[in-house]
Amino acid sequence: MGRFITFEGIEGCGKTTQIRLAAAWLAKRGVPVLATAEPGGTPLGLKIRDLLLNRSAFSVGAEAELLLFAAARAQHVRQAIIPALRAGQWVLCDRFHDATLAYQGYGRGLDAGFIRTLNGFSALSVSPDMTLLFDLPVETGLARAEKRTAGIRPEAAEDRFEQEDRAFHGRIREGYLTLAAGAPERFRVIDGAADVETIHREVCRHLAALF
Ligand code: TMP
Repeated sequence: MGRFITFEGIEGCGKTTQIRLAAAWLAKRGVPVLATAEPGGTPLGLKIRDLLLNRSAFSVGAEAELLLFAAARAQHVRQAIIPALRAGQWVLCDRFHDATLAYQGYGRGLDAGFIRTLNGFSALSVSPDMTLLFDLPVETGLARAEKRTAGIRPEAAEDRFEQEDRAFHGRIREGYLTLAAGAPERFRVIDGAADVETIHREVCRHLAALF
């Protein structure tokens, strides 16, 4: 079996850049890697991503949003993550079930107990070996995220969550930190406000511990 490592954090926390660097670092050491993301990672997941992240002409309620993230995850785990782990690959996943607790639980206020049950169901009981949480102030993250989407056409910007108010993002940051405090054996909290190279070194240190 390979290793399953998830990357989490608020908008603009730098996790996507860090996955790219970590995948290259592992590949250089001969480790077979699958770098993937949620929602996404399968044709169905990408369609759901499009429905959920782009600003759309139709409304998506919190309950429907939760179920769509869960549907994308179930397909992703079955079709991509389990086969990769069985083939001995290290799976680096940009967000996983902690994002659902942070965003739909702490952010939207949906019932955490129900989300945990749904998370177990949609993840087919697969759970990360390690979760790297990139923590930084909401203002810093949102400013970075805005910069990233500035040059993109509004209909392609994937910024529906970025449009939420500061309090929403504040609840998500606190939610992630609470989740990390509740599972210290799985979480590693990394200062996401540091520079890319410093963060990368920290990520490699944690990955090396899994060899
Ligand atoms: P990202 O590609 O920037 O990580 O965007 C994914 C967005 O989807 C981000 O705003 C967080 C959100 N999200 C949820 O709200 N719940 C989830 O379960 C997942 C996986 C993502």
